[in-house]
Amino acid sequence: MQKGTKLIISGKDYKANSGCVNTPVYRSSTILFPTIEAYHNTETGNPYYKTKGAGLADSSYGISGTPTTFALQHAICEIENAKYCLIFPSGLAAITITLLSLLEKGDHILIADSIYGPTRRFCNKELSRFGIETTYYDPTTGGKIEELIKENTKLIFTESPGSLTFEVQDIPAITAVAKKHNIPVIIDNSWATALYFDPFKHGADISLQAGTKYIGGHSDILIGVVTTNNEELYKSLLRAHKNYGIHTSPDDCYLALRGLKTMGVRLKAHEDAALKVAKWLEARPEVETILHPAFSSCPGHEIWKRDFSGSTGLFSFILDKKYSTAAVAAMVDNMKIFGIGASWGGFESLVMPIDPSTIRTASKWPHKNTCIRIYTGLEAVEDIIADLEEGLERLKQVG
Ligand SMILES: Cc1ncc(COP(=O)(O)O)c(C=O)c1O
Repeated sequence: MQKGTKLIISGKDYKANSGCVNTPVYRSSTILFPTIEAYHNTETGNPYYKTKGAGLADSSYGISGTPTTFALQHAICEIENAKYCLIFPSGLAAITITLLSLLEKGDHILIADSIYGPTRRFCNKELSRFGIETTYYDPTTGGKIEELIKENTKLIFTESPGSLTFEVQDIPAITAVAKKHNIPVIIDNSWATALYFDPFKHGADISLQAGTKYIGGHSDILIGVVTTNNEELYKSLLRAHKNYGIHTSPDDCYLALRGLKTMGVRLKAHEDAALKVAKWLEARPEVETILHPAFSSCPGHEIWKRDFSGSTGLFSFILDKKYSTAAVAAMVDNMKIFGIGASWGGFESLVMPIDPSTIRTASKWPHKNTCIRIYTGLEAVEDIIADLEEGLERLKQVG
C-alpha cells in the first residue's frame, strides 16, 4: 500500500469508538480495572494496553498514554514500516530522552556538525555533566566517519539534511560503518518525514521526528515521535520514557493524528512551492547559492537524488555579499507574508537570517556572505515571490 493511503486509513477504528470516524480524545490519568487481580496482571488485565499501537507499554496509569496515543503510535508505525513507536511532548524531548535512554557515563557519541542547535546544546551542556563526550563530524563525511569511532563510541546521531544548512548525508555509508562496529544510528528525519526518506531502508536503527513540523502541520502543537524495529532499543526507550515521566497530551496526539490525514497533500504543496521559489531566487542577481537538496549547488545533492523521493518546504540561500544588519532588517522586518519565526512545517511562510559560521566546530562554514533560511508555506506562490522581490529591493537600497 502507498504511504499516502496509509496516512488516510491508519490510526482510526470506528468499531472501537462508537462509529466515530476519528479516534476521539481520551483524557485520563486514572485507568480503572474490574478487579485487583486484573490491575496487577498487565498481560491480561488492562484492555486499553491491548489496543493496536500500545507496544509493550505495561503501565496501569494514564502517563503511558490512552487509546488516542496508541492510535497515533499505530498510525506512525504503519507509515514508517516500524514495529514500535513512542510519543514525546516535543521533538526536542524525543531527542534528549532517546539519547539519555541509550547512553551512560563514559560513553562517546558522534553527532553531525549540521545538527539542530538545541540537540548540540543538550550534548554540550547536559550530557557532558554525566561524563558523556560528544564529537561533531563533518556532515559530508560519509563512510570516513569510521576514523572518528572510538572504543567507547555508543551512538551516531545524524540529521539529513541539516535544517539550517541542508547538507545531505550519505546515510547508507554511515550505517554500513556503524553496523560493522555494532553502533546504533539515529536519524532526525523531521525535514523529509517518512514520506520522502525511509530511514530503515537506509540502515538507520532509530528514526525520530519533530511532529511539531509536518505531522502537526498547523503551528499549534509540539510533539515528537520516535520509531524503531529493534526490540532491544525499543525496550531501552520505553524504560526511559517511563522513568522520566514522559507524557504527551491526548489532545495533541489527536491533532497529530488529524495532521497525518493531510500531510501527503501538504508536503506536495510545500515541495512544489519551495522548488518554484528556489528557482526564482536562483535567477536573481542578489543570490549567489541555493542550499536546497534538489539543487546541484547543495552539498549532497547527488545523495538526495539517490536516496530521497521528494523535497519539502525549508531551504536556505546565500546572498551575493555580506549585507549590513540594517539591510537584512529592512528586508525581513517589513515582509507582508513571511513571518519571522524559528519553527517550520506549518501553513505559513517564515524567514530567518542565519550565521552558521558561529555554530560549527568540526567543519568550516564555506560561505562569507549573508545566509537566509526560508520556509515556504501554503500561500499562493506568486504572492510569496512578490514578498521576496520587494524584500530584496529593500535589502539593496540599504546595502
Ligand atoms: C530538525 C529539528 N529537529 C527537532 C526539532 C525540535 O522540535 P520541537 O520544536 O518540537 O522541540 C526541530 C525544531 O525546530 C528541528 O528543526
